[in-house]
Amino acid sequence: MDVVISHLKNNLDNYLEELKEYLRIPSISTLATHVDEMIKCAGFAAQKLKDAGMTRVEIFPTAGHPIVYGEWLGKPDKPTVLIYGHYDVQPVDPLDLWTDKPFEPVIHDGKIWARGANDNKGQHFVHIKSVEAYFKTLGELPVNVKFILEGEEEIGSSNLVAFLKEKQELLKCDAILISDTSMYAKGVPTITYGLRGLLYMEVEVIGPDKDLHSGSFGGAVANPINELAKIISKFHDKNGKVTVPNFYKNVLKLTKEEKENFKRLKLSDKQYAKEINVKELQGEKGFTTLERLWTRPTLDCNGIIGGFTGEGAKTVLPSKATAKISMRLVPNQDPVKIAKEFTKFVYSIAPRSVKVDVRTLHYGYGVVIPLGSKAINAAAKAVSKAFGKKTFFTREGGSIPIVVDFVKQLKAPTVLMGLGLDSDNIHSPNEHFLIENFEKGLYSSAYFLDEFSKS
Ligand code: BES
Ligand code: MN
Repeated sequence: MDVVISHLKNNLDNYLEELKEYLRIPSISTLATHVDEMIKCAGFAAQKLKDAGMTRVEIFPTAGHPIVYGEWLGKPDKPTVLIYGHYDVQPVDPLDLWTDKPFEPVIHDGKIWARGANDNKGQHFVHIKSVEAYFKTLGELPVNVKFILEGEEEIGSSNLVAFLKEKQELLKCDAILISDTSMYAKGVPTITYGLRGLLYMEVEVIGPDKDLHSGSFGGAVANPINELAKIISKFHDKNGKVTVPNFYKNVLKLTKEEKENFKRLKLSDKQYAKEINVKELQGEKGFTTLERLWTRPTLDCNGIIGGFTGEGAKTVLPSKATAKISMRLVPNQDPVKIAKEFTKFVYSIAPRSVKVDVRTLHYGYGVVIPLGSKAINAAAKAVSKAFGKKTFFTREGGSIPIVVDFVKQLKAPTVLMGLGLDSDNIHSPNEHFLIENFEKGLYSSAYFLDEFSKS
């Protein structure tokens, strides 16, 4: 084991150079213009799996972006760990807010800076390299390993869901290992056991068939932006509760024990507000910040499109306006039911003077993973060893859509071994990943494979 760790330590700089190469590929899954980059990125990931010692590596085409698979099954009497990651990244706009260019990775201030540095290339790269280190030093792994790297996590993973149904045998495993979440705080080893789900909708309000002069027509016809704003303003009541009918109907209540656990994490609202540069926090009445972030569903407008947004002034009544609305969901809310309720609700509050279209873009379920499995215990030990502190168990406000399908279909315990920090700017300008977390992540991965083989 020690030889593996020292190999990882000695090669840290090489790994960072390789990671930079990975980060130079602009694998933005949501942009149709980037299809070739996605294919290139899948090829790069596959090559890294081969170099790491995987004996069977395949790129599976899908209706969307390719899925990269790799395996080494040289220990028939030992359990199998399936390691998941995603090679796709979020768009980079607004570009002018980046200090360094998003796809020209650089290292400074103890961090590696680029789109995907944390989410998720940097985080899953540690597992590829820890596996490689085992082969380079001991010539074998302590357990069987399968990798599955997808290119559609940031757009809902729908093709991976279908793949999973089809390839149950191929993906059969005893534990699933994912590093795509955050640590509770810098230096605090963390295992996450819950994720929120997500429902992404669009509401389009359509008025006149073209933009109109706001002097000639203002006062005579409904303005789609005004009407859209009125609709959005009705999504919350004065206590911060979402007003969509039956929204909270199946929400799993917090247990007393969990409430106590959250309290023990001692989150300071003031400190938290300061970190994100807001005057104060806000949200659903009657719940603490951690409860709201990790266990309560929310509804947010992500963007509004419509009317004149150029420089200067132009007097028009816009012909239409669109809002992108997402809801973070929790167990046991059903996104399909909520989508129906939301659609019905929007139609019920829309004025007759405009046409309204409600569309579902994608959805995923929330999940809570039972603590106490061998895999989670081995992971908690591993991160604690790597970071030199006691492990915290947290839930998370973000989503990883495939996790619920892993849990349901592969019926194996899932370990969320996050190495990121909430301050890493994922999905924002200036995304970065702490080198220290990259390094300790390498050790965590190696320790986990070893611990799990003994359990
Ligand atoms: N790595 C994130 C999930 C995450 C977010 C973990 C925040 C910890 C903190 C993941 O890549 C992600 O961004 N997921 C999307 C999924 C969605 C587009 C279906 C999300 O949560 O918005
Ligand atoms: Mn992401």
